[in-house]
Amino acid sequence: MTFDRGPLRGDVRVAGDKSISHRALIIAAAAPGTSRVSALNRGADVLATLAAIRALGAHVEDRGDDLVVAGGALRDPADTIDARNSGTTTRLLLGLCAGRGITARFDGDASLRRRPMERVARPLRALGAEVTTNDGRLPATVRGITSPSGGNFTLEIASAQVKSAILLASLDATATVRIEGDRFSRDHTERMLRRFGRTIRFDGTTVELEPGRLQPSDIRVPADFSGAAFFLAGAAMTPDSDVVVREVGINGTRIGFLDALRAMGADVTVGEERDLDGEPVADVRVRYRPLRGVTLDGDLVVRSIDEVTILACVAAHAAGTTRIRDAGDLRGKESDRLATIAETLRFCGIAVEEYPDGLDIVGGGARVPERTLATHDDHRIAMAIAALAAPTGPHGIDDPDCIAVSFPDFVPLWEAAQRAV
Ligand code: S3P
Repeated sequence: MTFDRGPLRGDVRVAGDKSISHRALIIAAAAPGTSRVSALNRGADVLATLAAIRALGAHVEDRGDDLVVAGGALRDPADTIDARNSGTTTRLLLGLCAGRGITARFDGDASLRRRPMERVARPLRALGAEVTTNDGRLPATVRGITSPSGGNFTLEIASAQVKSAILLASLDATATVRIEGDRFSRDHTERMLRRFGRTIRFDGTTVELEPGRLQPSDIRVPADFSGAAFFLAGAAMTPDSDVVVREVGINGTRIGFLDALRAMGADVTVGEERDLDGEPVADVRVRYRPLRGVTLDGDLVVRSIDEVTILACVAAHAAGTTRIRDAGDLRGKESDRLATIAETLRFCGIAVEEYPDGLDIVGGGARVPERTLATHDDHRIAMAIAALAAPTGPHGIDDPDCIAVSFPDFVPLWEAAQRAV
């Protein structure tokens, strides 16, 4: 399929937040009683989690807009859990199984089989579970324990998935669990656990989970900031654009992208801020304005970890050079995102220098003849190509199907925003 050139305009309601959807299902499955989850992200990753919690014994009634989850009584799955393309499904559920005495084997598609799993296996072993990996990758098997004794953990990397795996493994811990070493990774698990009745503290450096029991809860999932980012980026780099994304999550651990856009000189307005079941949401508007290159590194990269690729595209349309550093973890995502976005930008005529932990992008927005670009089976690269096409396309992509991993309705919503006046 081909993404056209043209500005983005009007109101957009993007898919539910993927990270929050995984957590809502997993924590509802762990909580004894009946919980209700609405506005769930229906991408393939979250559907992999839905299938997995059913295999682990949760009873889920899918009523379309709502899912009613009867949780609490989990058991060993009969078969290998197929996490498909989803790192979050794998790492969070390895954690849950590790602390619930569950034995389970996890596998996934070719991309997930390349991704590192020892980062979760190590702390789960320290907690007392047996975890085996295939030379650090999938397939992996966990043999969980019951009532772990709590204790102190230090994260090797600023990863919400690793932090969440430890927290989910510690739901039945008999003493306080402390996790140090991370200040800026997304805190959706912590917020969701509070909604489900748990006491959890964060003092700016250490997360502490107190022993306790989960209570069932009802959760409405906010719109996904990471899905919204493609529309906001497309608007930021395409003359005549003016887009508003409604009821989108603006959790501070997720919106480094907005800080980066502002630093580049973009016209960003955040209005109607409110709380949605423990998460801050707002309507976010971006209007086109010429941009300048910046340096993106440190905490800003952690707070925009899934938006670094789309920021690289925005940088391609800003005046001057943008330097991205401290982003080496992107090489272990659904694709090696530093390499794949560098290749994509070069095909679009943009000068890019690649470093082990980042990129230098020389802005200027070259216009090249229509190209068919490779998605590398990575949903975020596919959507980044849509945004790249808006100012200087059209561009084709070789595999639009991968977008359904996080955002099944992306293409019709994108085309509608390009048709809006
Ligand atoms: C996620 C955390 C991030 C992010 C991923 C989703 C989560 O990964 O890149 O898309 O839902 O916890 P890391 O925790 O590995 O940084």
